[in-house]
Amino acid sequence: MKQKNVIGLDLGSQNTIIYNVIEDLVVFNEPTIIAKNKQNNQILEIGYLANKLEGRNPYNIKISKFVKNGLLHNREDCLNYLKFAISSMHLEKLVRNSTLILACSDDLSMVHQEALISICKDLDISSIYMESISKLTALGSGLNISNMHGNLIVNIGSGSTNIGIISSGELVKGKTIPIGGDNFDIEIVRYIRNKWKTRIGLKTSEQIKIKIGTLDETQEEKFIEVKGQDLITGLPHSFVISNKELINPLTKVANDIIFEIQQALEDVNPELISDISTNGITISGGSALLQGSRKFYQKSLHLPSFTSPTPSLSVVKGMKELLNQAKYKEI
Ligand SMILES: Nc1ncnc2c1ncn2[C@@H]1O[C@H](COP(=O)(O)OP(=O)(O)OP(=O)(O)O)[C@@H](O)[C@H]1O
Ligand SMILES: [Mg+2]
Repeated sequence: MKQKNVIGLDLGSQNTIIYNVIEDLVVFNEPTIIAKNKQNNQILEIGYLANKLEGRNPYNIKISKFVKNGLLHNREDCLNYLKFAISSMHLEKLVRNSTLILACSDDLSMVHQEALISICKDLDISSIYMESISKLTALGSGLNISNMHGNLIVNIGSGSTNIGIISSGELVKGKTIPIGGDNFDIEIVRYIRNKWKTRIGLKTSEQIKIKIGTLDETQEEKFIEVKGQDLITGLPHSFVISNKELINPLTKVANDIIFEIQQALEDVNPELISDISTNGITISGGSALLQGSRKFYQKSLHLPSFTSPTPSLSVVKGMKELLNQAKYKEI
């Protein structure tokens, strides 16, 4: 009998990944964004092309980011986006009657779970298997979670961060907070407005963050040219900033994440805390790529700190691992 296809879906606030689990192949990885005609709701573009339009869209085009802080905000846009992605990448054969592994925020409510399941049913998927982002991240980061030792996993995305404590292969405690890479971008915008009296957009600040942003004050100095709008004259204004200037605004956000991790650890069994002090913290998600992160979390939490080998793909890579484990063979 032909083996059933198994696909993975990581519907992130910034990026959506569709994954062929059996083949270990990312078949779609684009921004979670859709551009529609305002009058008739017809889809014009999704993913990269829609993202290019954002901020530059004419009045008759509506841009929708339908996943916010890791939660689904618009069912219809999500369904249309996935349908468009599947047809444009010719994935119909792969998806139809497949089994789907769906990555879910660690503390996703029943209402959100049901909304996601109903979307997947509309895509002719025959069975759906939901798994927490923290567990998938741990598996996709190469951690051996089947033993009885506790592990601390933190997936820092764009709109949310999942903090999970795992033992004996399962989530002991998981929480999702609405803080992520977007907050780093917002802090850069705020800093540049206050210090340089210049307005920049979130896309520009994200590029600044990716190119020179760091949480490590010992890192060598780097510079970047910034182009924005002078707040006083209203005219274009360009100037050069250093990565050193950004350490304070970026650290502010990272400290909020640290605070949430500490809170998550507060009422955890001391045996697990003892394991975590040995095993340390594994950071993942696209925002784990912010320079100086591993060192920062290590110093702030007094824990050994590791970065996942593929921070942006750890969730889907974890699906392959999930499938490989004997007890999940029924998937
Ligand atoms: N090299 C980098 N340095 C700093 N930040 C980065 C880098 N590369 C990506 N990012 C950030 O990672 C975030 C995207 O990560 P990811 O794809 O894991 O998010 P997501 O899964 O879509 O969102 P969420 O999990 O919150 O729903 C963005 O904020 C992006 O700016
Ligand atoms: Mg994510």
